[in-house]
Amino acid sequence: MAEKLLEIKNLKQYFNQGKPNEVRAVDDISFDIYKGETLGLVGESGCGKSTTGRTIIRLYDATDGQVIYDGVDVHDKKSKKDLKEFNRKMQMIFQDPYASLNPRMKVLDIIAEGLDIHGLVKNPKERKERVVELLETVGLNREHADRYAHEFSGGQRQRLGIARALAVNPEFIIADEPISALDVSIQAQVVNLLKELQEEKGLTYLFIAHDLSMVKYISDRIGVMYFGKLVELATAEELYANPMHPYTQSLLSAIPLPDPNYERTRVRKSYNPENHNYQDGEEVAMREVTPGHFVFCSEKESASLKATSSSK
Ligand SMILES: Nc1ncnc2c1ncn2[C@@H]1O[C@H](COP(=O)(O)OP(=O)(O)O)[C@@H](O)[C@H]1O
Ligand SMILES: [Mg+2]
Repeated sequence: MAEKLLEIKNLKQYFNQGKPNEVRAVDDISFDIYKGETLGLVGESGCGKSTTGRTIIRLYDATDGQVIYDGVDVHDKKSKKDLKEFNRKMQMIFQDPYASLNPRMKVLDIIAEGLDIHGLVKNPKERKERVVELLETVGLNREHADRYAHEFSGGQRQRLGIARALAVNPEFIIADEPISALDVSIQAQVVNLLKELQEEKGLTYLFIAHDLSMVKYISDRIGVMYFGKLVELATAEELYANPMHPYTQSLLSAIPLPDPNYERTRVRKSYNPENHNYQDGEEVAMREVTPGHFVFCSEKESASLKATSSSK
């Protein structure tokens, strides 16, 4: 098995803790991310995906739990130098390429921001050349450096967002619904670009999406979130072939396929958490049902899932 880059252990992020309006946005989730892989994180809007990403990258202090990066707990980092280096290694790409790029700044300065902060270039000439190189890496060119972000289309802006993240030579990128705001025709281009860059640079990704349609093509493994909990985690292939948690099954049943025969018979399943009928004191936790396939369930549910999967 590959080396772990990140270990997320019992992570919690509660907003307005102890108040009547407390939100348990992330409620005790644990997972690992291996070097060089893409872990997809899916779930409907409001289930805590962005909060998970933002807590990992330290935009928020965790309410509880640990984020261990390359063996070091990131919330334990004390010195400014360590923090700065951590901030360089871990970058984020945002959903809305309109809101995340300053409209009053030239592309040159938007992309060079990280270069400046981390002192990665020696002079203006080197700075410009590095930016041009980055523009070309994401399929843009030299001419674009002197324009403003508002002059670009959504897909191009997302390329700028990617160039800006790449500027500091990161190891790990959190892409928070990077294609959700883009036209369907552009989505595949951006996903392909991310895949190519990953191969070229050995990047590790946490790729956040609200549905299971595109995430399949980029993810090695996929985690499914529901109301702050991780409810299923498996390889992408396994998750699509054998979804075990009823919530994952409902998400999958919502994906339309370009096959009229399938579409005629597609039945949308809905998920009702009350159907679990958990008894008081029954422990519900992530359990490994088949090798590498984890489901948030009770001991009884796990036994029944195991029985069903071995009879297949
Ligand atoms: N800064 C915040 N303060 C209070 N509640 C928040 C904050 N950010 C997110 N939330 C709440 O946390 C929950 C998860 O939000 P979020 O992580 O943005 O979900 P997702 O990215 O899956 O759509 C939601 O109920 C949201 O309203
Ligand atoms: Mg979000």
